[in-house]
Amino acid sequence: MSDTPDAAAALDIEAIRAVTADLRLGHPLHYFPAIGSTNTYAAELARAGAAEGTLVTTDDQTAGRGRIGRAWKSLPGQQLAISLVLYPAFPSHFLVMASALAVAETIEAVTGIRPASARSPHHATLVVGIKWPNDVQISHRKVCGILIETSADYAILGIGLNVNGSLADDPELAARATTLAQTIGHPISREALAIELLRRLDAFYARLTDEGESARTALREAWRARLVTLGQRVTTHQGEQRVVGRAEDVDDDGMLLLRRDDGTLSTITWGDVEA
Ligand code: BTN
Repeated sequence: MSDTPDAAAALDIEAIRAVTADLRLGHPLHYFPAIGSTNTYAAELARAGAAEGTLVTTDDQTAGRGRIGRAWKSLPGQQLAISLVLYPAFPSHFLVMASALAVAETIEAVTGIRPASARSPHHATLVVGIKWPNDVQISHRKVCGILIETSADYAILGIGLNVNGSLADDPELAARATTLAQTIGHPISREALAIELLRRLDAFYARLTDEGESARTALREAWRARLVTLGQRVTTHQGEQRVVGRAEDVDDDGMLLLRRDDGTLSTITWGDVEA
């Protein structure tokens, strides 16, 4: 792996393979220089009986899909776009929590941004947080989106992380999203991020699979502590329906508890949240 990341270089897949060989998740690894959607391809593999942990990644996702039917913009050679084939033995809301938390912790570990609990003068103003349910943001601008697609038989965990380059050519998107490089001020190794992320996902997945309620409770609390949404006045969007209120808390399943202006409490199970 090169020490100085070159934003234009193709992903060093062998560097990733060398690490994931020892993990439950991350292999076999299918790499494509370009592909429509890694999630779509991973779902095809799952339907054909792919092994748990099968990973699909690319340097250019030409038809990336986001939550709620949206598109996910490609920055060729500058993002991480990964999809994992999983057969989880636990409810999928724990996958929502584990994946967002793994991404947030990975960003801190690789970039040196400190968690809020251990702030130092270095990058002191940057905060890696989670917008409910699983957008990872740095100081309120989105750097990562997660799309989990489940069926009765499998779950596809798709993660898109804006690493290098810039979104400046898309002013509407740039107003609410960014890349790690733009935030930190220098390019970041995509391989280092991929390796750290897969290690952390693997560890969360093992705990959720092998341990009991204590692992779930610990995960839920760590995810909850990262939610920048809590305490904010927000508008939730579910299709055409909008609900306004104060994001009061999350329940045990990770659903958002919204206190409406008339004092009633609504449980928001899906959709988008705007502060
Ligand atoms: C969102 O924020 O709406 C979720 C975006 C998820 C994007 C990732 S990139 C890898 C995987 N493949 C896709 O087509 N989508 C996900």
